[in-house]
Amino acid sequence: MKPAVSKDFAERPAAQPVLKWAGGKSQLLDEIEAHCPPGLGTKAIDTYIEPFVGSGAVFFALTSKFHFKKSYLFDVNPELAILYNSLKEDVGAVVDALAKRQDAYLAKDEDGRKAYYYAARAEYNETVAAAHRAAAKDPVNAKRAAITVFLNRTCFNGLFRVNSKSEFNVPFGRYKNPTILFESKLRAAAEALQSATITLTDFARAAEYADKKTFVYYDPPYRPISKTASFTSYSKDTFSDAEQARLCSLYRELSAAGVRQLLSNSDPTNHDPADDFFDKLYEGFKISRVAARRVINSNPDKRGDIRELLIRNY
Ligand SMILES: C[S@@+](CC[C@H](N)C(=O)[O-])C[C@H]1O[C@@H](n2cnc3c(N)ncnc32)[C@H](O)[C@@H]1O
Repeated sequence: MKPAVSKDFAERPAAQPVLKWAGGKSQLLDEIEAHCPPGLGTKAIDTYIEPFVGSGAVFFALTSKFHFKKSYLFDVNPELAILYNSLKEDVGAVVDALAKRQDAYLAKDEDGRKAYYYAARAEYNETVAAAHRAAAKDPVNAKRAAITVFLNRTCFNGLFRVNSKSEFNVPFGRYKNPTILFESKLRAAAEALQSATITLTDFARAAEYADKKTFVYYDPPYRPISKTASFTSYSKDTFSDAEQARLCSLYRELSAAGVRQLLSNSDPTNHDPADDFFDKLYEGFKISRVAARRVINSNPDKRGDIRELLIRNY
């Protein structure tokens, strides 16, 4: 079937993530695309849902190639909903706010940059706390979106990590000349987001929008590998085995409704050959094990053969 590609769509620049994100799927895009169902972007599959969008590596890659009428992107991290909605509604304001930050930061020496970073971090935490106190749901906020990108580009390791009080607590990263504003990337992302609805919500919301003409790609948080997983599963940010099972129920429900779905996860047999958690959970679906080029160890001898699971129902 020939994709219905409009001229505007064909001329759009390819979009990419604007954040570095834990578990980002840029390294696995070829495998993911090779495992997508045929007919993406045609009348047969005109809707895309990504319930754990993170940095959106898969959304940006697929929507640069295939013209979906509508996309639905979910995540429980409020900064992602604010950033993507701000880019969608007013990319110019995000660019301006980030340009100011970049100019101020790059004009300083290392001590000055460090002080500027910690001031931005404190401002960010105060903004988040004030919004929380006011119970404000603020999907568009260019200033806050710009601070998120600024911190992501200048913090240690490009991590986004908050403590139990939801405070961003990553230390300063020592980069020589970080690019903080990458305007063309922000504008390409904003273009791609025009046909997307971005919602701060739990993955289960996918059931509201998915039908036979929908493709859903799930990239839930990885299952903890340590033997103490049963302890960590009580912590706020862990996606426990019970959560994996809740997700599988949704997968089975939507599968019965004829929705095409692809799910990725780290393969537990990387660490324990006998761990068949996902094989059992997703019994009856097509489970592929593909090589992941994830750099998990700085010593190349110890990188080993890391596999990722791709589970599909078509
Ligand atoms: C592995 S990351 C996704 C990475 C993404 N594929 C990328 O390329 O950047 C998992 C994401 O799921 C989100 N998340 C965790 N629990 C969730 C839930 N119950 N519903 C929706 N999103 C959730 C996290 O905030 C995180 O952004």
